[in-house]
Amino acid sequence: MDNSLPIDNPSMSRRQLLNFLTGSVIASTAGAALYPVAKYFIPPAESNAGGAIIAKDKLGNPIPASQILAEPAGTRALIAGLAGEPTYLTVKQDGTLENVGIVDNCTHLGCTFPWNEIDQQFQCPCHGSRYSADGSVLRGPAPLPLKIVHVAVKDNSIWISPWTEIDPRTGETPWWV
Ligand code: FES
Repeated sequence: MDNSLPIDNPSMSRRQLLNFLTGSVIASTAGAALYPVAKYFIPPAESNAGGAIIAKDKLGNPIPASQILAEPAGTRALIAGLAGEPTYLTVKQDGTLENVGIVDNCTHLGCTFPWNEIDQQFQCPCHGSRYSADGSVLRGPAPLPLKIVHVAVKDNSIWISPWTEIDPRTGETPWWV
């Protein structure tokens, strides 16, 4: 007589199901525990659906807001903005960042230009155009105000986004839109 037990298929199925469920619980628990670790190592998104991008230095590394805000009030700091455009950010007297950035691209023939601290102007070295702090033309031959962008700080990241609404300096649709 054969006394061996018959293979209990339903029992095996239950065990497999139990193993599967236990494994799932362990996997999901491990996943939940590792999420903050993974989040730490994965850099934050560098652009969003609204066309905003994170400001970077000339080497392409994100610039923390704290790095620019460590500079004295009145500083114009150059960052790489939308499409890599060099863009001036201003440290305000209250130690925050101006929410408008000025694109460093002369509207005459496209030269870049420095900020003159004494005259409080952007002064183009190519043909002498001058712009006020908000990018309005003070002296030609530049025909148009400097392009501006939105600047916002979130979690120590600086976000640059396109300015597509009315240009507050002219009251008109921006020339670059
Ligand atoms: Fe700036 Fe000509 S390119 S004045």
